[in-house]
Amino acid sequence: MIFSRRQFIAGTAALPLAGSRLARAGVPASPLPGPINPLVRRRADAQVFRHDDGFYYMTGSVPEYDRLVLRRARTLAGLATADERVLWRHLSSGPMSGFIWAPEMHRIGERWIMYFAAGPSGGGEDVFRIRTYAIACDGPDPMTGNWSVLGQFQAPWDSFNLDSTSFVHRGTRYFAWAQREPGIETNSNLYLAPLDTPLTLARDAIRLSVPTLDWEIRGFKVNEAPAVLARNGRLFMTYSASATDARYCLGLLTAPADADIMDPALWVKSPEPVFTTCRETSVYGPGHNSFTMDEQGRDMLVYHGRDYEAIEGDPLFNPDRHTRVQRLYYKADGSPDFGVPVGNGPLPERFASKADPARHLAHDGTRLLAGDAALPATQFRATGASRTPDGDAAGSATVTIAPILLPGHAILARDDGSVLLARDDGSADFRRRTRFSRVDGPAGTTRFLSAVAPDKALAAGNGAVRLAPRRDPGAGWIAD
Ligand code: AHR
Repeated sequence: MIFSRRQFIAGTAALPLAGSRLARAGVPASPLPGPINPLVRRRADAQVFRHDDGFYYMTGSVPEYDRLVLRRARTLAGLATADERVLWRHLSSGPMSGFIWAPEMHRIGERWIMYFAAGPSGGGEDVFRIRTYAIACDGPDPMTGNWSVLGQFQAPWDSFNLDSTSFVHRGTRYFAWAQREPGIETNSNLYLAPLDTPLTLARDAIRLSVPTLDWEIRGFKVNEAPAVLARNGRLFMTYSASATDARYCLGLLTAPADADIMDPALWVKSPEPVFTTCRETSVYGPGHNSFTMDEQGRDMLVYHGRDYEAIEGDPLFNPDRHTRVQRLYYKADGSPDFGVPVGNGPLPERFASKADPARHLAHDGTRLLAGDAALPATQFRATGASRTPDGDAAGSATVTIAPILLPGHAILARDDGSVLLARDDGSADFRRRTRFSRVDGPAGTTRFLSAVAPDKALAAGNGAVRLAPRRDPGAGWIAD
């Protein structure tokens, strides 16, 4: 039976690494210019990973859905302007002549393999007869080697399947993907199985998740785009749910890393979405993520999202899903804290009090505090001219300190030494009072000297934040 999309509808790799070693070792934040969001416009379903050849690789869906692309760079930020190579174009007819979706590149054995979803281009064929295929490279360098079709993934059913990913866990290579299962009235569920060959499974797959929760079935009943991260003794699998518009969001499945992950009972689903549309930061429909690390070994979340909400027509054909990256932090229990999509611009940072690292510079509305707060309320953009380490006469940069959740606001210093978050009224006084000299010192200590009182700095004290003498112990912050 041929399904139209509307009828029809109506995840690198686990990385055994130990968080931000350099930051804990007190190494100052990298002088490298960091990525700016959106990292790459009009690239959806992005997979970004750092390979041991020192390159970051990025692939993703192109709005035309007609080709497979790859780019690489030495830095995350470099991906924004890196040359993009077309590895393969869809065929002129047949099952791989239509939509080309959600590619992922993996090194399996000594070979580069790129998995992707493809469908026919019509001609009486259902364009949503989407299946998973792979191309393979004949050489060690994916940017120069020849790529050719390897074949079709032998899925458990001859039904809609897409968004595959692969990872190695405890020496076994696994495959996870999304598929419509005959007899289950959803658009796509999640499956997992060990791989035998790049296109065949070593045993029957297990069903990991079916979209049933309200936030998983808005618009369409979707669980897709699995992505795996091994951290803190657990395997975390994120996935994307609902329609690909502002309702699109991330869910999370968690399993103990030292158990048999082919036991479906061991995978626990978070009852609420972990990453959703954020109106404060103007990012809509964040999802289809992957995981990587920044140049300092700190975990990064890669995902796509639009910077507007209203979409004309089917969101699948709206080209404005842009690739975005941001830091991935962890909660005290070791589970990932996704926070909110941080929005366009340079990456924000968190500032922990050097005197009491459990306290972060944070805000509750326009009130500033130093304490424990939800991740997004502790994220600020403290950017301005280029930074240089302390001890050099010119060793500081003029910055404003702006919260991600309150656009148009910045930390403003008053003459009495109090500080608050104020909305930019365009005045010279606002500009003067919100200017700080950021000094990144040795051992990762950052100070913000107020332009209003240059001998004073932003300081934490008894849970409050105010200006204090620049050498005050409360005036040291750790950027993270
Ligand atoms: O971007 C094309 C498809 O849209 C992706 O494969 C899927 O994750 C999303 O629904």
